[in-house]
Amino acid sequence: MEFQSEMQAAKLLKAHSHIWNHIFNFINSMSLKCAVELGIPDAIHNYGQPMPLSQLIASLPIHPSKSSYIQRLMRILIHSGFFTTKNVANDDHEVGYVLTDSSMLLLKDNPLSVTPFLLGMLDPILTKPWHKLSTWFQSNNLTPFETEHGEMFWAYACHEPKLNEFFNDAMASDARLVSKLLVDDKCKGVFEGLESLVDVGGGTGTVAKDIAKAFPQLECTVLDLPHVVADLERTGNLKYVGGDMFEAIPPSNAILLKWILHDWSDEECLNILKNCKEAIMSKGKGGKVIIIDMVIMKDEKKGGDNDDKSVETKLFFDMLMMVLQTGKERDEKEWAKLIFSAGFSNYKITPILGLRSLIEIYP
Ligand SMILES: C[S@@+](CC[C@H](N)C(=O)[O-])C[C@H]1O[C@@H](n2cnc3c(N)ncnc32)[C@H](O)[C@@H]1O
Repeated sequence: MEFQSEMQAAKLLKAHSHIWNHIFNFINSMSLKCAVELGIPDAIHNYGQPMPLSQLIASLPIHPSKSSYIQRLMRILIHSGFFTTKNVANDDHEVGYVLTDSSMLLLKDNPLSVTPFLLGMLDPILTKPWHKLSTWFQSNNLTPFETEHGEMFWAYACHEPKLNEFFNDAMASDARLVSKLLVDDKCKGVFEGLESLVDVGGGTGTVAKDIAKAFPQLECTVLDLPHVVADLERTGNLKYVGGDMFEAIPPSNAILLKWILHDWSDEECLNILKNCKEAIMSKGKGGKVIIIDMVIMKDEKKGGDNDDKSVETKLFFDMLMMVLQTGKERDEKEWAKLIFSAGFSNYKITPILGLRSLIEIYP
């Protein structure tokens, strides 16, 4: 192939480098996972000042033969925004590593730590199905997860304690962040005036615990699969019920569905939403369903915080739902269709949870 002009050659090289960048996208995730497993964010945090490379190496649980590799791991993580460098005090020549806002969120003791979510999502049980994506397209399996593991996600989690444990930990870590925002003044109004709330698919109850604490008059229930809530006991105004949201949901003023509907297909969501409606209608008028999920914006590039990275992250989640579950991320039109088809009369979307929105729906 001959190049007619310099511009043609430049275009080809740009395309080539674009492909290389995508081939190796996983190196960002795996380098970050490695840093977290080695405890690098905590080591730098505990040092209390810019940490020279030699000190970092000395503090890590690594084999002496690997000392010279740490600088290269740190270099790519600086590039991706997880660490930065600053001058070491009283020394104009030596620099040390410091944390950024993102690596602060990876500290083990940070109550809002994203580390359990990171380690869970990058566990081979969840990454292996990605190698089966094209096989799945050519099969009649429901998900690539099923193609890889021979059964669907929740059935597998039921008898595989490792998946059950790291997945629940991952969800609980996300729930800590969201519930902190939920009971904050900006969102508190959503729960005011309610007498009862069921957190459907509420996992081990992280969000429900915070809501129950912030609203002592509110009778809170977590409904989840029996193996998830088996060892959890009632405390104060919070109780746990093992069950199946496709069968029945306990009667309540309000239902919370955090990160539930994006796991399921439209047909499955309709089934869940109809059960939600029945549960709130049996308590009389004035009830609602509170959904916390993403809304893919029609024109993601306009306004708000819908920058390119946010768009890409939402599309990552949409693919994740295709690979692990039968679900998807929805745009407003798809949400509205689902809500009205399930027999609800109105909805309100409030985009106050970063990449996710609060969607209140009314019977
Ligand atoms: C993506 S997780 C979300 C957990 C929690 N709401 C959160 O956001 O932290 C989905 C939850 O739905 C639960 N679940 C799955 N199938 C269910 C069913 N048929 N009935 C009740 N809960 C179910 C899972 O056990 C899991 O806890």
